[in-house]
Amino acid sequence: MDIVTIQNVKKYFGEGARQVKALDGITLSMEKGEFTAIVGASGSGKTTLLNIIGGLYAPTEGSVTVDGTDFSRLNDDELTIFRRRNIGFVFQGYHLVPELTVEENILFPLALDNLRPDRAYLLALTGMLGLTGRLKDYPYMLSGGAQQCVAIARAFITRPSIILADEPTGSFDIRTSQNISGMMKTVTESFRQTLILITHNPELAQLADRVIQMKDGRII
Ligand SMILES: Nc1ncnc2c1ncn2[C@@H]1O[C@H](COP(=O)(O)OP(=O)(O)O)[C@@H](O)[C@H]1O
Ligand SMILES: [Mg+2]
Repeated sequence: MDIVTIQNVKKYFGEGARQVKALDGITLSMEKGEFTAIVGASGSGKTTLLNIIGGLYAPTEGSVTVDGTDFSRLNDDELTIFRRRNIGFVFQGYHLVPELTVEENILFPLALDNLRPDRAYLLALTGMLGLTGRLKDYPYMLSGGAQQCVAIARAFITRPSIILADEPTGSFDIRTSQNISGMMKTVTESFRQTLILITHNPELAQLADRVIQMKDGRII
């Protein structure tokens, strides 16, 4: 089953002579449970594509369907709720709340929806991400890599069908990057989620089931 279907998506920024064609006709689909890496030079449109899949940007042209929902049929509020329930985002900066414990940071998205945490899932998830025994700690007590793992657990806690990760390990050395990316792969495989990871690094892309290469707003 396809979880993401994108048809002839274009995304232009600006107007006239200054117009940038960030995406210039993208058609692709991704299957449930698949791990896709997106690679390509800086400025090739990777982040724009991820933001379109995540419903953060509306395409200039073309259609985007995620988990059976055509984004063009949702208003802004519906899209926000859809995003919160179905999509997990991981960015390079982890944006943890310093006054909250690791556990409170991870559970934060559930609190927004008034949902009760599933303890067994929390413990399984944090175990896979190397955070066992760290739940009562505060973010400053953790290494950068472990803090990013907290951000990853937070993205997974709502059991989203898709995880979108934009260079999540871009600021770490290769060993830490491989380690964290491997843990993300383990979690997505265990819970049959779909992972889309943008990376500059060919060694990280190798972990994926499929690699999409972008150039000048197109897939090559
Ligand atoms: N919000 C924006 N406003 C104007 N131009 C943008 C915006 N976002 C991206 N772009 C432009 O679109 C192109 C693709 O950018 P981006 O998707 O960020 O590429 P990548 O993530 O591969 O580095 C670049 O030329 C970039 O400058
Ligand atoms: Mg980018």
